[in-house]
Amino acid sequence: MKVTVVGAGAVGASCAEYIAIKDFASEVVLIDIKENYAEGKAMDLMQTASLNGFDTKIIGSTNDYSKTAGSDIAVITSGIPRKPGMTREELIGINAGIVKMVSENLIKYSPDVILIIVSNPMDAMTYLAHKATGLPKNRIIGMGGALDSARFKYRLSEAIGCPASDVDGMVIGGHSDKGMVPLTRLATRNSVRASEFIDEDRLAQVAADTKVGGATLTGMLGTSAWYAPGAAVSALVQAIACDQKKMFPCSALLEGEYGLNDLTIGVPVILGKNGIEKIVEIDLNEDEKALLAESAKGVSATNVLLSGLDLF
Ligand code: LAC
Repeated sequence: MKVTVVGAGAVGASCAEYIAIKDFASEVVLIDIKENYAEGKAMDLMQTASLNGFDTKIIGSTNDYSKTAGSDIAVITSGIPRKPGMTREELIGINAGIVKMVSENLIKYSPDVILIIVSNPMDAMTYLAHKATGLPKNRIIGMGGALDSARFKYRLSEAIGCPASDVDGMVIGGHSDKGMVPLTRLATRNSVRASEFIDEDRLAQVAADTKVGGATLTGMLGTSAWYAPGAAVSALVQAIACDQKKMFPCSALLEGEYGLNDLTIGVPVILGKNGIEKIVEIDLNEDEKALLAESAKGVSATNVLLSGLDLF
């Protein structure tokens, strides 16, 4: 199993590290445009192999896509991260051209690759990857919901006062401060509704804190977060590489599901060796449907900006 991670910045390197530590891939190629940077990160990571006990070979490359040839899965983290006070949508002008070029380079050397898009604005970049490459829709996956759901579980466990492993919950919708839809009604602690443990106001606060999860960290760190994004991507890569058939909310191209068309947005999907093997349509109540529809409007508005860039 060969995995390429494009972008050796904090998210890309953390993703490569988690993949290596989980030890399910034979090879990870880390690639970056900055001279010697990916090579350096790869060497540093390889020097942890004997300490962390993994056999995955991590190779770095400065923009040589021939090194990525034959990749089964490729993760695109390229582009610039947001700075404090910025929205993810503001990155579109710079990141769209980069994501298009990277997707095309990857496919040239790995025609059967499954792409996971992390670059922001993530839903629009996933849509762009579809439009620019024409790959079958099961082979393009946007990472966002998996990260947002992990942040939701963190906030939920904090509010209830229990470990994160005790809670379950999911965030659907766009990967944006306004667009996320944390499904508080369905959140549970060991299959008991979360609302049995905390009142509605506290639950609403959990949802509000979840939605600004990335922005909160960007304010604290001066750039966007990397540990949870890296861990979320590595979980998606593992689900595909190991054909786990696990369910994650991911940005998927919708063709009528949830009453939505011609956009990529976070919905629950089953991930296995073919990428997105199924889009799961869960029963949302009227409020949740309205929130998802509103979120879709935001994602579509960003796609209109994207179309104006004349990249496809
Ligand atoms: C975040 C970025 C990766 O939410 O979108 O941290």
